[in-house]
Amino acid sequence: MYKYLLRPVLFLFDPEKVHYFIFGAVKFLDKIGFSKIFKSIYLVEDKRLERNLFGIDFKNPVGLAAGFDKNAKLYNQLSDFGFGFIEIGTLTPKPQDGNPKKRLFRLKDDKAIINRMGFNNLGVLEAVEQLKKEHRVIIGGNIGKNKITPNDKAILDYTICFDSLFDHVDYFVVNVSSPNTPGLRELQDKEPLTKLLNKLKAQNTKLAIKKNVKEKPILLKIAPDLTDDQLLDIITIVADTKIEGIIASNTTISREGLKSHQLLQEEKGGLSGAPLKNRSTEVIRFLSEKSNKAFPIIGVGGINTAEDALEKLDAGADLVQLWTGFIYEGPALVKKINKALLERS
Ligand SMILES: Cc1cc2nc3c(=O)[nH]c(=O)nc-3n(C[C@H](O)[C@H](O)[C@H](O)COP(=O)(O)O)c2cc1C
Repeated sequence: MYKYLLRPVLFLFDPEKVHYFIFGAVKFLDKIGFSKIFKSIYLVEDKRLERNLFGIDFKNPVGLAAGFDKNAKLYNQLSDFGFGFIEIGTLTPKPQDGNPKKRLFRLKDDKAIINRMGFNNLGVLEAVEQLKKEHRVIIGGNIGKNKITPNDKAILDYTICFDSLFDHVDYFVVNVSSPNTPGLRELQDKEPLTKLLNKLKAQNTKLAIKKNVKEKPILLKIAPDLTDDQLLDIITIVADTKIEGIIASNTTISREGLKSHQLLQEEKGGLSGAPLKNRSTEVIRFLSEKSNKAFPIIGVGGINTAEDALEKLDAGADLVQLWTGFIYEGPALVKKINKALLERS
């Protein structure tokens, strides 16, 4: 129904407006009791789908990627579409508007999106208020820095977000790979990245001892545009800093092989969806093989079919996430992936 009835109508309107409209609609439907209906349609529950990674029990390995529910407003309702985990954020210490609109573009001929949102979010404290509600699903907290914060002060921004979210999320994601915050991706270089992750690890230990709880898993989200040498550095950094894993990947700055109109291709920002699929899978395979499967990987980028998800898992991913595929294929995609996993288990 989504692909043939709802999507053609939604795609007539501005993508960002549609996003907020969908949020309102899902919230309303939840209020009038649709949660059970959505769950009965989309949720696949089976022991064979369960995964235990970095000390967390996931009901299934299909998650919603960061940037969809940036302000943690809809995580419970979104979990009704069958997701095993929802990643909120990217959050920054202070609220910020992000880049001027228009900043989100559909490349329909490529089943892709270009976005230059620029970490628009209501700030970490507003998200904390939202997260005080009961959680029906595993929540990842994706953290970043404010645009006005220079890179040499970035550690403080990440630490503020980490401290604020510590009691409210199940795992953390350190986002240094968005192409839409000027200079952010320089934090992926070996020295600043090691410093940042060491600081967050130390903060993790400190908070866990103080609160007498377990430490939270910390994952790093990387860009698909890193070179092999940079990826080898990432493997060393994971080993040195002892973070729990990697999310590969964020959006790409490449525009290779697109069919869409040249003017659309030239929009600045990160490209996601089908054209990103092979590169993100390649990054997953490289990290998995070169590290000898030393750490868990969450695979994300261009998953539009169950086969795309299986390909990522076969390349070395332990869990997968969706974003653009969820827009193009609708919630049925989550169910299709879980069903395909059951068929081959
Ligand atoms: C509109 C939009 C906003 C996004 N915002 C974020 C974000 O705030 N933080 C982040 O780590 N990734 C963000 N992403 C990247 C996605 O989480 C994902 O890594 C990427 O889109 C590749 O997956 P996909 O091809 O399934 O979309 C965003 C993606 C899109 C399309």
